[in-house]
Amino acid sequence: MRWPGLLEAYKEYLPVNQQTPKLTLNEGNTPLIKLERLSQEWDVELYVKMEGANPTGSFKDRGMVMAVAKAVEEGSKTVICASTGNTSAAAAAYAARAGLNCIIVIPEGKIALGKLAQAMMYGAEIISIEGNFDEALKMVRTISEVEPITLVNSVNPFRLEGQKTAAFEVCDQLGDAPDILAIPVGNAGNISAYWKGFKEFSVKKGTRLPRMFGYQAAGAAALVHNRVFENPETIATAIRIGNPASWNLAVSAVQESDGQFDEVSDEEIVAAYKKLAASEGVFAEPASCASIAGVYKSLLNGKINKGTKIVAVLTGNGLKDPDTAIQNSLVKPTHLPNDEKAVTEHIRGVVLH
Ligand code: F0G
Repeated sequence: MRWPGLLEAYKEYLPVNQQTPKLTLNEGNTPLIKLERLSQEWDVELYVKMEGANPTGSFKDRGMVMAVAKAVEEGSKTVICASTGNTSAAAAAYAARAGLNCIIVIPEGKIALGKLAQAMMYGAEIISIEGNFDEALKMVRTISEVEPITLVNSVNPFRLEGQKTAAFEVCDQLGDAPDILAIPVGNAGNISAYWKGFKEFSVKKGTRLPRMFGYQAAGAAALVHNRVFENPETIATAIRIGNPASWNLAVSAVQESDGQFDEVSDEEIVAAYKKLAASEGVFAEPASCASIAGVYKSLLNGKINKGTKIVAVLTGNGLKDPDTAIQNSLVKPTHLPNDEKAVTEHIRGVVLH
């Protein structure tokens, strides 16, 4: 059967009614892949939820389909968001699909190229400011209060409603919740949405509750240190955020679930990014790999025990950020003449020696 998309598949769990348009790009239903090598090497049972398999290449599609459908239902003609890139790609795509205008405000020079290309192709009005995400978010919150424009950042509660469906899928795919859900944290909407989803599924289906482990980049680790980072900095531009909007919800998720926040350095993120791609064939963007880097750190310092069943959320597709991939890869193309003999000799020397 053809997967109908989230609003249809999970309508009993979502604020969907007769007036809600049947908006979809057939988002959701993403793979849960077992990381065979890493599970063995680290002596755990480690799975990744491949959110980069969504239509615009990130988990943002789950929340955006809901938020944009509700904007249409409410008669809105225009949506707006601040973004480190993925939210803007999803907003622009679903606005195009629904026939709405889309305005995005992004931090100049700090958004990955693939994400910018998406917003351009989907036809959004793109405003690039000399400021960071937190400043952009503050701006769009005020604008949406004054102008007839719907805010579709995750402070819009419909975003978290859509995003909670990922927790339902994890439970269905594993047969129950895992022991630990490891997730990168930026603006802190997604960890809050997963926790809401796990709790709702537990009530309806009797599934367990996982412990929520949220990982931030060390240069943008507001929740770890319980203070705002005025100038957040990290190679993982998607989570380059110093003052998470869903701060309180995320803290509750971690406290209620007996989980933890921790931070990972850019070096740890890049190491996980490369290892995941080269040893598992799984290419996720740097911010996503904060979850894998975090799991590794927690295993080393004893916060995660051997034998634990873990689901790490890979929030975005590796293709989103080709620059970071190329800059950090040790593999470089070898340039040779258009000559079979030369190519064969090279292969024998490098691969078959
Ligand atoms: N991973 C990726 C790939 C992201 O794009 C984001 C957030 C996160 C993790 C963190 O999720 O904010 O719910 O804690 N990106 C937002 C954006 C901020 O504008 O695309 P969060």
